[in-house]
Amino acid sequence: MANAGKTAFIFGVTGQDGALVAAELLRQGWTVHGGSRRGHVSKLWRLEELGILDKVNLVNVNLLEPFQIVEALTSLRPDHIYHFAAESFVADSFHQPHSVIATNVVGTLNVLETMRIAAPGAKLFFASSAEVFGVPPATGFLDETSALQPINPYGVSKLAAQNLVKVYRERYGIHAASGIMFNHESPLRARNFVTRKISYNLARLKLAGGPPMSLGALDAARDWGAAADYARAIPLTLNLDAAEDFVFATGRKTSVKQFFEYAATAAGYDPVFEGHGVAETCRDRKTGQALAAVSEKYFRPFDTQPLVGNPARLKERTGFAGSRDAAAVAEEMVAADLKRRKDGAIHV
Ligand code: GDD
Repeated sequence: MANAGKTAFIFGVTGQDGALVAAELLRQGWTVHGGSRRGHVSKLWRLEELGILDKVNLVNVNLLEPFQIVEALTSLRPDHIYHFAAESFVADSFHQPHSVIATNVVGTLNVLETMRIAAPGAKLFFASSAEVFGVPPATGFLDETSALQPINPYGVSKLAAQNLVKVYRERYGIHAASGIMFNHESPLRARNFVTRKISYNLARLKLAGGPPMSLGALDAARDWGAAADYARAIPLTLNLDAAEDFVFATGRKTSVKQFFEYAATAAGYDPVFEGHGVAETCRDRKTGQALAAVSEKYFRPFDTQPLVGNPARLKERTGFAGSRDAAAVAEEMVAADLKRRKDGAIHV
């Protein structure tokens, strides 16, 4: 195999992106070590579902324990390091700003300092976020040259970490690339994110019935790409001679309501929306079954306006062909959740 003898270390291997990149690297013949925090046994379901739990060497690493990082990287000597470990739920970042800043900024600093001292020859991919942009441009799409104006503690944390990556790249010559990741979804998404909340609950409604799901702003919109497509592109960025920052995006905007319609249709429903604002509801036209209602509980006082990215640099440098659209992702997520429920796997 082309990559026999090559070793990767993935911080956050039990999350959506870590698990998908681990599967991609294993497919390419890499040896994969993955950092996860002990006690997070319940999070191993992604590796299990991908059939790679026994192929990834799990290492107990807490990003806020620098010596654990030193120990892992000096003993395993990875060629490539992927850093996905983060507190990633934007809405929570107003309620727990200290832990968001600690994990996302200090945690990233600990990885960079360890690389500087103990593994300067390794290459790093850091998962930053579209939230670093904060506000949409007056015209056009966001790219690597756009203004960086985060509007929540999460966005501030990702921008600080992305800037640290740049400083270590420029100051110490470390090969470190940031992916400015727009929203990307898959059946491996956690259930607190809106796309998976929708696919999970549609499968529940279809196969077990029960009350409609409660959602927040239906007119909110995102640039939703396919996590599996991005996971194939991420390792390509480390094969380049020069390290850079890359926007990962589709260039297309989809509202929560549109995503819901794609998903509900994939589940065999004919969704009809009625009412406005907090009174808006959705039912199935054929059976009348109530599918969704709006709840103020899920409104975000400072929600980020729709941000849409231009992945031209990524395409140009790596040959990345683009990401499947939101409709295809919704279909895949609904199919996976229907299958899980039929198999009795409802707690993932
Ligand atoms: N979570 C959630 N739950 N969001 C809802 C709901 C709901 O019931 N109803 C509407 N929304 C809206 C939110 O207000 C937001 O506008 C949008 O759906 C997407 O919310 P999330 O899926 O929670 O994702 P996010 O955009 O806040 O953050 C994701 O994308 C970032 C990159 O843009 C995360 O993956 C971040 O980690 C990532 O950096």
